[in-house]
Amino acid sequence: IKKITVSNIRKMKSENEKISCITAYDYTSAKILDQAGIDIVLVGDSLGMVMNGYENTIPVTLDEMIYHTKSVKRGLQRAFLVTDMPFGTYNVSHEKAIENCVRVIKESGAEAVKLEGGAEVAPLVERLVKSGINVMGHIGLMPQSVHVMGGYKIQGKDGSEKLAADAMALEKAGAFSIVVEGVVADTAKKITAAVSIPTIGIGAGVHCDGQVLVYHDVFGLFDDFTPKFVKRYANLKEVAVKAAENYVREVKSGVFPDGGHSF
Ligand code: KIV
Ligand code: NA
Repeated sequence: IKKITVSNIRKMKSENEKISCITAYDYTSAKILDQAGIDIVLVGDSLGMVMNGYENTIPVTLDEMIYHTKSVKRGLQRAFLVTDMPFGTYNVSHEKAIENCVRVIKESGAEAVKLEGGAEVAPLVERLVKSGINVMGHIGLMPQSVHVMGGYKIQGKDGSEKLAADAMALEKAGAFSIVVEGVVADTAKKITAAVSIPTIGIGAGVHCDGQVLVYHDVFGLFDDFTPKFVKRYANLKEVAVKAAENYVREVKSGVFPDGGHSF
């Protein structure tokens, strides 16, 4: 198995190869994705919702990101590993932000960090890249700004200038790729054309250079809410509930464990 590096990911755009990315938060899930040949595994702060049951990503801490990333790392042989910097860990000062990103890279095994923001975070991205840290940008709908936005709102409806400028600022600062979230397809297409680094879309149409989805959405494990952009590739929750019901029935009736499962 050939390990995917940041240069492979950059090259995929120039060679017109689409980039696949799914999130993971633990060892077993990471192994599943790696075996399937996924290019990038993202330890997203979406873990706040799907792992912890929070309403949004705001409460997630740096320690929690590191904890989950370490587990994911052990499950990967091929995929490139990116970790989200959670809310508040890169907003206070450049010094504090660099310190926190260095900690993530040092302790978690992540090969890159992702942080939300456009042109306004470009100076920080530049300092991080100069410090030897791979940075993935994240523009469009930025879930860490949920309170400021007043909900999750589709972006880029009134043209592509601002978002394309954000993407170009991130590219100039040295980001190696950019997540484009919740953006109308035509605007995402223009953003993608404006930069030579790959755009990884989520709810941003087919013209991005790659796609990312949340693990629990892909496999049909999470049903608190289902955004329009989510495509379920399996219904594992249904399978798991049926299996658990079966187990309960067999335990109650004494069918399990039988001789074959006893010593
Ligand atoms: O937290 C996350 O899972 C993300 C992806 C959806 C891009 O940021
Ligand atoms: Na995120």
